[in-house]
Amino acid sequence: MAQFDVDAINVESLRQRTSVKWRTFDPDVLPAWVAEMDFPLAAEVAAALHAAIDRSDTGYRSLDGLAESLVRFADDSWSWQFSRDDVFCAPDVLSAIAHSLSVLTRPGEAVVINPPVYHPFFPVVREVVGRGLVEVPMARADDGSYGWDLPALEQAFARPEVTAYLMSSPHNPTGSVPSRETLEAISLMASTHGVSVVADEIHASLVLPGAVHVPYLSVATPEASAVSVLSASKAWNLPGLKCAQAVASPAIATRITATLPMSVSFGIGHLGVLATMAAYRDGAPWLGEVIAILDGNRRLLGDLLAEHLPRVRYTAPAATYLAWLDLRDYGLGDDPAEALLARGRVALSDGPSFGTQGRGFARLNFATSPAILREIVERMATVVQ
Ligand SMILES: Cc1ncc(COP(=O)(O)O)c(C=O)c1O
Repeated sequence: MAQFDVDAINVESLRQRTSVKWRTFDPDVLPAWVAEMDFPLAAEVAAALHAAIDRSDTGYRSLDGLAESLVRFADDSWSWQFSRDDVFCAPDVLSAIAHSLSVLTRPGEAVVINPPVYHPFFPVVREVVGRGLVEVPMARADDGSYGWDLPALEQAFARPEVTAYLMSSPHNPTGSVPSRETLEAISLMASTHGVSVVADEIHASLVLPGAVHVPYLSVATPEASAVSVLSASKAWNLPGLKCAQAVASPAIATRITATLPMSVSFGIGHLGVLATMAAYRDGAPWLGEVIAILDGNRRLLGDLLAEHLPRVRYTAPAATYLAWLDLRDYGLGDDPAEALLARGRVALSDGPSFGTQGRGFARLNFATSPAILREIVERMATVVQ
């Protein structure tokens, strides 16, 4: 039986939502920006939340069972095994990243990132953790697909100030998924140059047919200094509930878990813990359906662009529900999202915020119904006619 009817999703009921996606822009704007999905919650997750409300279970969060549920989920999903003692929890992925980097690096040191990349990486490294940034852009092939530039990464790792690498895997916004060989090469380079790796794997459960997610820590050696950060928040659309998890390599696990500030640990939401455990335990059928919809939507988006905006360059992502669109041929300037919003009344994420490589690009969220996706593209097309 279908988990939900994707074609029943409509803008009128979505506008009842009060989250940032639906409350940032005027009501006539169709939002396709921030990474929230338009699908109804998984029934199992909704039931866990309803049950908690029904028993007035809204006290301080307990982490009871959360690490164990992640251990089981990781084994089921990726045959990845680790000890529950190597897990620490945080309200969100960004605070887990900030904590990891602040423990694994020192003032005056620098962290490597791969732009175009999830834009909060810039302020988290510079302002929250207070470290330098070294940019190693993703390599762009002639066909518009992206991959990791291993020689450039090695050069950066060899720089004396570089002591950490913040990796987005799967990569936001390009949707690239690193192969096991790529991760093995990175792991080798990291240990050769004494670089710690923090792998943001928030999109790990959103790998689409044809690709496979390999957790970084499943490739790194036990002696490595590495952290994989995970959350049910993207795949089950729970970011407002505040619950992320991280797994540290055995060599650094005690150092990282013992230094977690109370302000981080107590920010975890109780409902987030309950929803996460329900998603990890019972959420696979719903996620399977979502993956099938996203797989269809990434192809539909290609067809719609070919029909309405043939000069947009788009490579269907291997993971995530985010499309990285090259709009440079339309001459909409550095930030095409601005014109699309002003004249098309459709909100995409602005390309330049992902790094200078994003000039002339925009990121489109296609986690919606095919009909709404069609309207998003049709509105975009009105701007270039
Ligand atoms: C790569 C990446 N990391 C982190 C986040 C934010 O996660 P959180 O809200 O758990 O900090 C997102 C959200 O879209 C993301 O795409």
